[in-house]
Amino acid sequence: MHQAVLLTEVMAWLRPRPGGVFVDGTLGGGGHTGAIAEAIAPTGRVMALDQDAGALDRARRNLGERVTRCTLVQGSFARMDELATAHGFTTVDGVLLDIGISSDQLDDSERGFSFMREGPLDMRMDLSRPVTAADLLNTLGEEALAHLFRRYGEEPRARAIAGRVVRQRMAEPFRSTRQLADLVEAVYGGRRGRIHPATLVFQALRIAVNGELEAL
Ligand SMILES: C[S@@+](CC[C@H](N)C(=O)[O-])C[C@H]1O[C@@H](n2cnc3c(N)ncnc32)[C@H](O)[C@@H]1O
Repeated sequence: MHQAVLLTEVMAWLRPRPGGVFVDGTLGGGGHTGAIAEAIAPTGRVMALDQDAGALDRARRNLGERVTRCTLVQGSFARMDELATAHGFTTVDGVLLDIGISSDQLDDSERGFSFMREGPLDMRMDLSRPVTAADLLNTLGEEALAHLFRRYGEEPRARAIAGRVVRQRMAEPFRSTRQLADLVEAVYGGRRGRIHPATLVFQALRIAVNGELEAL
């Protein structure tokens, strides 16, 4: 199960008290939401958003009885204002954003977030979004791909990787995480150290696919 990051620090900043009202914009596995829900009992409320429908199901199970004080909503925190108003959260004591992806998402090979696991190059947190990571790799021009790797990944070999993607996809379109991880590894001439050479490229694609900077 997903472990809530910096839980002690988050609780020290939010200081949830009985009767408090909070919004968690990134529910994930429900670690932070659950801790807040405990602290605001018995009359407080937490609205928690996640754009990944699967996260809501998992969090509901993890929360147990605490879910009775939670309003779980599928949606982006970019729409927090509108969703909070719609669910009656007009005045709140605190808001939390724990951005990025959860370990549940990373561990699910079918989601395509991890270069460590063979799976489809998808990377969408919200599966109703129209464009996957494979779509971007197979359709963007070389210049646009290099820009994407630089802007969202600060990838030092952005140009070389983009060039290789464009050449390779002519022979075979990108479908799997392994294809991309192997390509980046080849550009770097193999692996060195503990950090996989495809780390920044995967991060860049994930940020682009999910419009993460725009949402913030
Ligand atoms: C790092 S995890 C959060 C973990 C959570 N704090 C916990 O304790 O389990 C980030 C979560 O935010 C979600 N997410 C990312 N961007 C989002 C957005 N714009 N709107 C709503 N949820 C988002 C992801 O789907 C993921 O489940």
